[in-house]
Amino acid sequence: MQTTKKDTLTLLEWSSEELQSMIELAIDIKGKPEKYQEALKGKILGMIFDKASTRTRVSFEAGMLQLGGSAIVLFSRDLQIGRGEPIIDTAKVLSEYLDGLMIRTFAHKTVEQLAEYGTMPIINGLTDEHHPCQAIADLLTIYEVKGTFEGVKLAYLGDGNNVCHSLLLASALVGLTIHCGIPQGYAVDPVILKIAQDIAESTGAVISISESPIEAVTDADFIYTDVWTSMGQEAENDSRLKDFAEEYQVNAKLVAYAKPDYHFLHCLPAHREEEVTSEIIDGPHSLIYQQAGNRLHGQKALLVMTLGENNSI
Ligand code: CP
Ligand code: NVA
Repeated sequence: MQTTKKDTLTLLEWSSEELQSMIELAIDIKGKPEKYQEALKGKILGMIFDKASTRTRVSFEAGMLQLGGSAIVLFSRDLQIGRGEPIIDTAKVLSEYLDGLMIRTFAHKTVEQLAEYGTMPIINGLTDEHHPCQAIADLLTIYEVKGTFEGVKLAYLGDGNNVCHSLLLASALVGLTIHCGIPQGYAVDPVILKIAQDIAESTGAVISISESPIEAVTDADFIYTDVWTSMGQEAENDSRLKDFAEEYQVNAKLVAYAKPDYHFLHCLPAHREEEVTSEIIDGPHSLIYQQAGNRLHGQKALLVMTLGENNSI
């Protein structure tokens, strides 16, 4: 067990330089996976899920196995935490068995409490507020395509929630230009926005938010969207469809405002013909499978830097 630990709850635990190193490590791991096949030998990652997952679950488990370690998948409904066992006891007990714990849950407070009480590193695999592991893969994809973050414009369209928050923080840390087009009533958390703006002052990132999808995508290098109804919001589905309507849909009319060689990104899962048309998501500008594949490589870098013997802490 480590005596010091590095959590990843929001990405803010990592400096700009560390995040850049993580992306470069991910590229090395992706290119030479055999070099890292014993990097986490004997290490065990626990993974708790309160929500469904395809990419996060499989990429973390495959990543741990490829790094020589192992992973245990746990569903809250099968754990005593699902019957009300306090987080403090769960965190302290699991710290006796595991080298790290990834959790996907609803309230961000839950991952903060696990991090406070657990002595092992905690990795946020998605909360209602943040999705840092997705943002690592997104940065990796942008960097692979452009070779730099400087002068690259990312447009995000949709709900100002978890994926958007993590993109804002990630963009601020690496110096991207990000413009979010978000409908009224779905604004980003102003505290997170302020943090991103403060970081941007020292990294050269440019952060802007408006309600105009056209302003957001104009001259964009990357256009990114997410579902209009996130997990846990299903009861609001009908009103959300109306509020986002066609104005915020990524379609041929909207992408015409972006750079001619723009790329399309989506964290997935996607709802075709809602937030994006099939023409765009399945078209030649789409990088969705490369981006999803990069969940594996980005997280392997995160795991090596977090659980490895020669980690950065
Ligand atoms: N993007 C993402 O987190 O996918 P899953 O919900 O399948 O894990
Ligand atoms: N915003 C989506 C992201 C899924 C990866 C959700 O929270 O359901």
